[in-house]
Amino acid sequence: MWKKSIAIGLLLTGASTFAAASDAGEVSQGRELAERRCASCHAIGETNASPNVLAPPFRNLYRQYPVDALRPAFLKGLEVGHRDMPRFVLTPQEVTDIIAFLHELNPCRKPSSDDTAMARCFAPME
Ligand code: HEC
Repeated sequence: MWKKSIAIGLLLTGASTFAAASDAGEVSQGRELAERRCASCHAIGETNASPNVLAPPFRNLYRQYPVDALRPAFLKGLEVGHRDMPRFVLTPQEVTDIIAFLHELNPCRKPSSDDTAMARCFAPME
């Protein structure tokens, strides 16, 4: 078990270094990937409902998890806690991109003068 934790720690460190280097590109890649692979069930927009009512809208994920903590699960294919969903395989780069996109959906990530974003940040969870 400890070996696994160390591996995850290394992955997280690697990811944040990488994310700092090329954030913008990854967000658009991640969005595109989410549209293709996840949007048939999950809402990936800022206000729409999920096509599959059981699937949490991606914009709410950050309220349940620090989204970086999803990385190991995404690398494994989210077998855990994802019973109504076919197991998917993502490359480490795709995982980095999706996580960058999930960060982008988090309106509380940075202070903002955008009232709509701030209202979403403090809104009750759907
Ligand atoms: C076929 C429908 C479907 C697709 C496609 C799908 N999901 Fe899901 N997802 C679900 C459902 C349903 C849940 C709710 C979990 C449950 O109770 O099974 C879920 C839950 C999740 C969760 C929360 C897991 C938890 O433990 O709370 C994450 C994160 C997630 N999905 C990520 C993704 C990503 C990333 C993709 C695309 C690569 C994706 N999903 C594609 C149906 C889907």
